[in-house]
Amino acid sequence: MKYNIKKIGVLTSGGDSPGMNAAIRAVVRSSVYHNLECVGIYRGYEGLIEGDFKALNARSVKNLINRGGTFLKSARSPEFRTKEGRKIAFNNLKEAEIDALVVIGGDGTFSGAIAFLEEYDIPVIGLPGTIDNDINGTDYTIGYDTALNTVVSAIDKIRDTAHSHNRIFLVEVMGRDAGDLALSAGIGSGAEVILIPEQNMGRERLVESLKRNKKSGKTSSIVVVSEGDKVGKNIFDVAEYIENNLKGYEVRVTVLGHVQRGGTPSCRDRVFASRLGVSAIDALLRGETNVMVGINNNKIVSVPFTDAIKGDNEIDTDLLRVADITSI
Ligand code: F6P
Repeated sequence: MKYNIKKIGVLTSGGDSPGMNAAIRAVVRSSVYHNLECVGIYRGYEGLIEGDFKALNARSVKNLINRGGTFLKSARSPEFRTKEGRKIAFNNLKEAEIDALVVIGGDGTFSGAIAFLEEYDIPVIGLPGTIDNDINGTDYTIGYDTALNTVVSAIDKIRDTAHSHNRIFLVEVMGRDAGDLALSAGIGSGAEVILIPEQNMGRERLVESLKRNKKSGKTSSIVVVSEGDKVGKNIFDVAEYIENNLKGYEVRVTVLGHVQRGGTPSCRDRVFASRLGVSAIDALLRGETNVMVGINNNKIVSVPFTDAIKGDNEIDTDLLRVADITSI
């Protein structure tokens, strides 16, 4: 083994996601299990630069598995994007005698780790934590399942009122650059149309599709709109276009927003996060660095950070087909 690891730092960075606490808990307890010290770093890379560290033991992470958010708190750190910021961060790690890091977050978190590793030799393992599910090489990201359930239960409620009033409801879900959440939640909630950033259906086709729904006997429609969708300037613009071009329907907009990021993590997210937390320590002990630990076909895998964040988000074409067929 190249590295002699005695003390591990763990942080969460970027947008929080339900299950991050379960992941931290598993990292801490797995460290203790392997007789390693573990230090919590607060507010992601911000806390790394400010030296905001706290020693954690197995009891420090009690009563957390069921809690959303991240008790270590999170941030998006502009300073860590600078050489100077990363230098301060490294010096703080040296001073605290932390000799390995586990970073939990999304593509911004992994990009930060890549820049850090180009300059400093310290093992870093990443865990995918984002509700967006936009990381390559892993079937799921921590928080995605909980967010899906949150979205579906919100749309179930919206469906009741949409149906009672014969309305079209546009529901915006998160996912800046990725339509995974919209697509799966759309299928799961029986949406008539799903708009995602990976596929611009255009305003005309959208209205055509809603007209077809009406002809086929539907009295109300749910359109799930991913935050990053490019059909209109924004969801309100799309709503206005529909109202002007499809007579006989009232259109309403619901933006689900940060409701999707909070809440009690689902069992699936808790188990997934626990597996990944334990696997992160295993990976460090095997001498790995510069990789994300994820899950592929139910097997734990290590994926280089550069591959995990590479290119545009790929959407599951099979799911697109299922959405098309089941929404007629
Ligand atoms: O990346 C996770 C995410 O929740 C995106 O879906 C969303 O676009 C973004 O974060 C919102 O970020 P913020 O909480 O900083 O506004």
